[in-house]
Amino acid sequence: GAQAVAAPASARPWMNRSLSPDRRADLLLAQMTLDEKIAMLHGWSGGSYVGYIPANTRLGIPALGLEDGPAGVADGMTGVTAFPAPEALAASWDTSLMRQYGQDLGNEEWGKGANVALAPTVNILRNPQWGRSFETLGEDPYLTAMLASADIQGIQSQHVIATVKHYAANNQEYHRTTVSANVDERTLHEIYLPAFEYAVKQAGVGAVMCSYNKVNNVYACENPYLLNTTLKGTFGFPGFVMSDWGATHSTVPAITAGLDMEMPDSTYFGNALKQAVLSGEVSMATIDEAVHRILRTMFAIGLFDYPTTGSPSATVTNAQHAQFARQAAEAGTVLLKNDGQLLPLDPSKIHSIAVIGPDASVSPQATGGGSAHVIPPYVVTPLQGITQRAGSGVTVRYAQGITTTGTLPPIEAQYLTPPSGSGQGLLGEYFNNMTLSGSPVLTRIDSQINFDWNGQSPGPGVPATQWSARWTGTLTPPVSGTYTFSLTSDDGSRLYINNQLLIDNWRDQATTTETATIQLTAGQPYAIRVEYYQNGGASNVALGWSIPGQENTLLSQAVALAKSSDVAIVFANDVESEGSDRSSLELPGAQDQLIEAVAQANPRTIVVLNTGGPVLMPWVDQVPALLEAWYPGQEDGNAIAAVLFGDVNPSGKLPMTFPRSASDLPASTPAQYPGINDQADYSEGVFVGYRYYDERGITPLFPFGYGLSYTTFRYSHLRVTPTQADYRSQIAIDLDVTNTGRRAGAEVVQLYLGIPSTNVPEPPRQLKGFQKVFLQPGQTKHVHFELNPRDLSYWDVNAHAWVVQDGTYAVQVGSSSRDIRLQGSFAVRV
Ligand code: NOJ
Repeated sequence: GAQAVAAPASARPWMNRSLSPDRRADLLLAQMTLDEKIAMLHGWSGGSYVGYIPANTRLGIPALGLEDGPAGVADGMTGVTAFPAPEALAASWDTSLMRQYGQDLGNEEWGKGANVALAPTVNILRNPQWGRSFETLGEDPYLTAMLASADIQGIQSQHVIATVKHYAANNQEYHRTTVSANVDERTLHEIYLPAFEYAVKQAGVGAVMCSYNKVNNVYACENPYLLNTTLKGTFGFPGFVMSDWGATHSTVPAITAGLDMEMPDSTYFGNALKQAVLSGEVSMATIDEAVHRILRTMFAIGLFDYPTTGSPSATVTNAQHAQFARQAAEAGTVLLKNDGQLLPLDPSKIHSIAVIGPDASVSPQATGGGSAHVIPPYVVTPLQGITQRAGSGVTVRYAQGITTTGTLPPIEAQYLTPPSGSGQGLLGEYFNNMTLSGSPVLTRIDSQINFDWNGQSPGPGVPATQWSARWTGTLTPPVSGTYTFSLTSDDGSRLYINNQLLIDNWRDQATTTETATIQLTAGQPYAIRVEYYQNGGASNVALGWSIPGQENTLLSQAVALAKSSDVAIVFANDVESEGSDRSSLELPGAQDQLIEAVAQANPRTIVVLNTGGPVLMPWVDQVPALLEAWYPGQEDGNAIAAVLFGDVNPSGKLPMTFPRSASDLPASTPAQYPGINDQADYSEGVFVGYRYYDERGITPLFPFGYGLSYTTFRYSHLRVTPTQADYRSQIAIDLDVTNTGRRAGAEVVQLYLGIPSTNVPEPPRQLKGFQKVFLQPGQTKHVHFELNPRDLSYWDVNAHAWVVQDGTYAVQVGSSSRDIRLQGSFAVRV
């Protein structure tokens, strides 16, 4: 055929900026051939991005570079800022901070040449064992919706399309590509969909990513109720829907249901889609609508008018972004306990500090794993941050206490973790660092890393001859005796000693540690082999072992250090990643034992948690001071030191409930989570998170919305107007908040509403408003909330709509969901 020639700019009427995005898209679409249209509807291999659609040079359509993810530019890119995990931002309850987070992320994506950011993750934290807890904005739909909207506005202000994900009811990693989330219509609309709805209506989000799982036994990416009826119909979404990576399962059903773009390849939306058009199975109108949605979004967000000039190799992190990363980590840190006002620390009154735990120095958990893993340019460790802030008058000493993983007593351990949580070929790179008695003993001999995001390589239950990576080496024991080996991995792993299977952990999913003992003879070389299979997500393997007689060396060093110091600070972590759920809510390894031993040795013990979600705390009554610092990003140590020493007054509040025990969790039966035969029944309905604990009268360890400050606040003068309303009324809630302490600080004022249970069962309270108020000592500020009819409504499954009912509505204003300071009410007559 004839060679296509680039049209002159004057022949591109769609470049007229005064036209609407829809009009511009139509003008451009009218020029496109079928092949050119199909080319926009699926990903291509090649390019430096996790998803890529090449430019159309004939028509001047820019390429689409799609790039993760919520906590910073991900996918193995360097020169980027590692911001705190999204849930730390959620714990700040600060929408302006969240907007800045989005803006900085958008700015770095653009600088890397990417113009579609695969963020934010807005799935509700239904069960905190979910391996992606750190990526979420917590357990409440309203909080998530408000924060996500601010994030999206920030991202899109940089001419980068935001992608709200994962649509919908994607709440676990366990069998994530096969499980069906069985959710009733009311629960979907009240709990799992609001964040998507607000992203569309309030933030104008450009793209939606449909999820891996099925919803009510139909794949999310070919689910007509979710895509066409609800998202594009009820919510009025004008943008485009892309599939999660490998989550497209068909051609005709998927495009007919409302999927617009297959990622990351062309299995169903490439030639197969073209053939379906040619055979008449799919109409040209359907194709045009999908292309129109993509183009109109590109116009609306400015991809044509402000095309990225960045490149994948650019350094996009800078001093302002680093400063913001620190500020966000400080704002997200939650003070959970402060008995006897042990905190803040006063360096003029302390002579010595013991800093304890692998997380403080050896392996700080600054970021989560999986597609949201960001490679930090540096990580300020807690040890570094505290040492620097404490100053020369204070002696800061460090004890690791335990090995980085595994149960006591291993004293030698090594993560076999790739430096980046994703990508190819990196598994085991660190393994060569493994030493015993000073010399490397294990070497990676081979690896068959070939995993992608949907990959089962080779997957669970596969023949024993297959593995993703294998290491072998020799161990020459320094003494004779009983050795304890511990093997931790997120997916499957096995340990052989002299060809004998010692640990068999060859099963899928949650991160598990298995230990076994074996009698070894001094001086005799033993062949060791570790095999590992990868089942999507990050790769985490660690091997540890004890040397007889030296088992508790590290622990006793920590205890001795704590005893001889004025204050002991223990840093504890968990390791969370896409690809697997946590096997339990316990702190991994021997960290509980470490905390207990240190707290016993020093009554002035402070625990700092770097966890991706709630953990159980059997020692909670033994430690006077406790902080939740999440995954704080590259400024980890600086941020935590600023809070510990009171340069920053903590103001974070929990965006999710911390349970006392695993049996208290809302979705705790196997039928609910992780599901039986891939059927996960959301039978708890709308009673998710604090809604469940409140309804059942279960006292949590720390409730939703909870967090202490170094100052105190008084609430007063609640006024609710009108007190008699009809179903169209706006309700005004007014009150005053006063800082009654001696330090400046911020309080998150929370507004909860008790909707009457006349027509459907309602939880005692639901969050409907929040405001973060900064107050000088003695200062009072007025706080004003407005409730609109939607805030008063429940989803009526007969009307398929939001409905306000008759009755008395309870207004509860407080400092947490369990610390209501002011109460009022209003009556609605429909
Ligand atoms: C799969 C993850 O679920 C999704 O969040 C991510 O954006 C894609 N992989 C691309 O990395």
